[in-house]
Amino acid sequence: MSEANAHRVAVFGAGYVGLVTGACFAELGHHVAVRDVVPEKIDALRRGEVPIFEPGLDELLARNRERLVFTTDVTEAIAGAEFVYVAVGTPPTLSGDADLSAVWTVIDELPDVDHRIVVAMKSTVPVGTGEKVRHRLDARGLGHVGYVSNPEFTAEGTAIKDFMEPDRIVIGAFDAADAEAVEELHAGIDAPIVRADVASAEMTKLAANAALMTRISFINEIANVCEATGADVVKVAEGIGYDRRIGKSFLRAGVGFGGSCFPKDSLALKQLAANSGYHFQVLNAVIEVNELQKRRVIGKLSDLLGGLRDKRIALLGLAFKPNTDDTREAPAFVLAGRLLAEGADVVVWDPIAGSDGLHGVEQVPSVEDAAREADAVVLVTEWPELQDVDWRAVGATMRSRVFVDGRNMLDPETMRAAGFRYAGIGRASNGNP
Ligand code: UDX
Repeated sequence: MSEANAHRVAVFGAGYVGLVTGACFAELGHHVAVRDVVPEKIDALRRGEVPIFEPGLDELLARNRERLVFTTDVTEAIAGAEFVYVAVGTPPTLSGDADLSAVWTVIDELPDVDHRIVVAMKSTVPVGTGEKVRHRLDARGLGHVGYVSNPEFTAEGTAIKDFMEPDRIVIGAFDAADAEAVEELHAGIDAPIVRADVASAEMTKLAANAALMTRISFINEIANVCEATGADVVKVAEGIGYDRRIGKSFLRAGVGFGGSCFPKDSLALKQLAANSGYHFQVLNAVIEVNELQKRRVIGKLSDLLGGLRDKRIALLGLAFKPNTDDTREAPAFVLAGRLLAEGADVVVWDPIAGSDGLHGVEQVPSVEDAAREADAVVLVTEWPELQDVDWRAVGATMRSRVFVDGRNMLDPETMRAAGFRYAGIGRASNGNP
């Protein structure tokens, strides 16, 4: 990109979304200032340390170092900026609504700029937030500050690719010139642009997540019916996935979804609907199925082991999915808590995620250590390295060879041939002896 086309972007929030957004805009040739309130985070970033694990992010930040500034100072971040990206956290409050206090802090801290800037919302917010921000800016005499909703659809572990090669870019604006400017900022990215009003852009983010979660809970329920009727959900998912109207993605049955987005955003959408007097039945079912799905493994283990008291259970994987160290709302934490409550001993392994906040479990450095003397192994996160484990050798060190594959990652026949009583999710037709 020529310097003439390069823009100045301030990104508020140095979490997953903010760092990926900042790094990718710098990669596109723009000058980016990333601002966060946590000084330790900013100091680390200045030293070239990346506070989160996201494949490729450290290289991207290093490669674009000369176009990136990290600061705790609002004035420094905003100086000369044409765009202010808001990428702060919006965690759920006790009522299930999204907590927008960090968003409001950004808006209220904006200096009285006299030049035109566009505030772009990346944080996931309830529909109607843009409208409220608009009023607040106008009330401050900042009518010349533009506002767009430009939601992110990036998934952890593939965030950089998702940003640089997205399926679409959604831009919701009050003013066509602001939408135009944000579109231009994405020059170099080849993707369909969906221009919308602000409310529709906000809803698009919530609806996209809800659609994906619905697919997961749907296939998990199909899996549960498969177990009851003797079908194999892996085959069923393959069979329906070839239907172009259905598609293959997000049809992996398992122990349920977790992560920083789905659980939080499902609650936020549920609450948003409820606040407007609407009872979102499908979404309620999606959430409930997911909660039950995490707990079904407990019943399976108990059946296979004849009770759980004093049984040693090895959980493989703490992260809510592979290729991230993120354990937010991770099914492993729910499983561990339930197992401890049933009187089991729990030993956990994960190649990068830690067990902080999980009391009463032992974390060990290898799969072999976890399985030794265990009564059962539960594969919770489908880390690729689990494919290459010598399971026969691991089984030989276990007290009893029970294996619950919570992600249907391994081949049932191979595992049975290796001496395991193996149970997947929705694979009853593989019948255990
Ligand atoms: C998700 C969305 O994909 C992304 O578009 C949005 O911006 C943020 O939320 P992320 O939470 O990073 O991204 O992970 P994702 O890969 O979508 O997985 C979410 C959860 O669903 C994981 O726990 C995963 O194990 C589970 N999942 C996913 C399934 O159980 N089955 C599937 O078929 C797919």
